[in-house]
Amino acid sequence: MSIAEMTRTHFSAPDGTNQSVIAWVEEIAALTQPDEVVWCNGSPEEADELAELMIEAGTLTRLNDEYRPHSFLARSDPSDVARVESRTFICSVNESDAGPSNNWAAPAEMRTTLDGLFEGAMRGRRLYVVPFSMGPLGSPLAKIGVQVTDSPYVVMSMGIMTRMGTAVLQSIDDSTEWVRAIHSVGAPLAAGDTDVPWPCNQTKYISHFPETREIWSFGSAYGGNAILAKKSFALRIASVIARDEGWLAEHMLLLKLTNPRGRVFHIAAAFPSACGKTNLAMLKPTIPGWKAETIGDDIAWLGKGADGRLRAINPEAGFFGVAPGTGIATNETAMDTIWGNTVFTNVALKDNGDVWWEGMTDEVPEHLIDWQGNDWTPESGTPSSHPNSRFTVAAAQCPTIADEWESPQGVVIDAIIFGGRRATNVPLVVEARDWEHGVYLGATISSERTAAAEGTIGELRRDPFAMMPFCGYNMADHWAHWLSVGQNLRSSGTVPRIFQVNWFRKGADGSFLWPGFGENSRVLEWILERVDGQVAAQESALGLLPREGDLNIDGLDLDENVMEQLFAIDTESWLAEAASTEEFFATFDGRVPAAVTRQLEQLKARLTS
Ligand code: GDP
Ligand code: PGA
Ligand code: MN
Repeated sequence: MSIAEMTRTHFSAPDGTNQSVIAWVEEIAALTQPDEVVWCNGSPEEADELAELMIEAGTLTRLNDEYRPHSFLARSDPSDVARVESRTFICSVNESDAGPSNNWAAPAEMRTTLDGLFEGAMRGRRLYVVPFSMGPLGSPLAKIGVQVTDSPYVVMSMGIMTRMGTAVLQSIDDSTEWVRAIHSVGAPLAAGDTDVPWPCNQTKYISHFPETREIWSFGSAYGGNAILAKKSFALRIASVIARDEGWLAEHMLLLKLTNPRGRVFHIAAAFPSACGKTNLAMLKPTIPGWKAETIGDDIAWLGKGADGRLRAINPEAGFFGVAPGTGIATNETAMDTIWGNTVFTNVALKDNGDVWWEGMTDEVPEHLIDWQGNDWTPESGTPSSHPNSRFTVAAAQCPTIADEWESPQGVVIDAIIFGGRRATNVPLVVEARDWEHGVYLGATISSERTAAAEGTIGELRRDPFAMMPFCGYNMADHWAHWLSVGQNLRSSGTVPRIFQVNWFRKGADGSFLWPGFGENSRVLEWILERVDGQVAAQESALGLLPREGDLNIDGLDLDENVMEQLFAIDTESWLAEAASTEEFFATFDGRVPAAVTRQLEQLKARLTS
């Protein structure tokens, strides 16, 4: 069957498609005026066909099957390389419901703007209908969405990152609540126009309508801007649904750990972007007898199960990981995961038809084609791969994926961990006194600004719950919601413990004090021994700390005083941080819950007592 013939079988909605979906697709098609409407079935043949189309269009290059079977390289437009937070909007009816951490726009005004932009936006292109499930299809914790898009690259990415296809479409009936996601690259083609390999538009909007559970994205085909199942649905829209329904949609990895006594634990950990979620999700423990298995690396949906315990699923089906810095030394599991069946975006191409990026190997190839398609040598003076270049790969391909990663009931969460990138102040590990204190720790996650970020060096960049760019409603209300989820769990008996970790504390010479990566298993060991009731802790102004000698550092070659430095509490700089936290809380117009403000007061009191 030829390409044209094959797609022709997809030109009408499959039998049994709910009328609500058909009517909506017709409405969007009338607005965007595509040449054709293709209903995606999610089959491997369909993905192969899309790949062929994109190779023909110059969007994809097929990699050498010998080194990277069934894998592709995409080079984006150099102006379309990352999520654009400045063009991301929460269009709630009331501005205060978006809160100070979001760009707000009035829904009616935004709709007018978008109607103008989307009118005729798909001319000369195909509109693909992409039905997807976040979470295993049929799981009580899963949610359905349908994305329409004019980008085959986005269809292929959605096919890896979600459970996508006809079965999802056919699960929609009159009573199903499904999320509507509309995406266009914003580059219509007139008759006779030749296309470019990566169509996009300098004007970009990633707009969310939380009340009507809709997403409208225009102008970008990259990552979270365009793969609308991910940050837009699974975090921004889902966080609002979760608030309304009493559960949590969080920027968290999920990890299963088995201790030497055979007890199984599951942890959920929130770290801001680029602070090590994928690394921790694929942890290789260095301490004997421990086993770590992966469940998710970016997003978790958590809620009270029928057994009264906090349970979590990974709503995604794939990883969209940062390539640079991923290598055998830093994340061997990720390297094993991407052996094949992987889409790489904005990495370098080797002369042998395989991919390379900074940090993949110690040895640097003599010649590459860089992410912009130019010849590159080690003397070029620029990185061969874009710093935000990515691999997109099915989670099922991860050699450490846990058996229960698709469990419809989710896994029981034994501990919640918050982390950030802190050169100072925050100790290697601290346990929250209780849930409310834990919510305070989450609300105060931050990183010092480095030279790479705008603003004053050393100033704290706040990223509460690692959700700053991803919470679809007022961040202070998110903290109140966490408090109420804790209360609900307490009423049935089991509340997971909350911890804060910091792999990034630096010594006077500016180097990391803690070896990190696989050695982080030592910190997890202490955390889970606490959960298991095997070890006591000591009080401090910040919370509960390991007693001297309890944290296992056997066989680690640490300099003298490193442990003291990792746990040092400098009263003066902590009081300064508390003052900065007070200023931060003041930006929320009095919406910060009293229980959170009380934690700040108690911290100050403990620091000065
Ligand atoms: P994600 O965006 O949160 O998933 O972050 P990644 O897992 O991609 O990691 C981001 C960066 O943090 C990479 O450069 C890692 O090498 C680095 N990193 C991860 N874990 C550690 C650690 O334990 N110690 C140190 N020093 N760096 C780490
Ligand atoms: P991240 O998300 O910044 O959390 O890695 C990237 C994306 O979804 O584009
Ligand atoms: Mn992320």
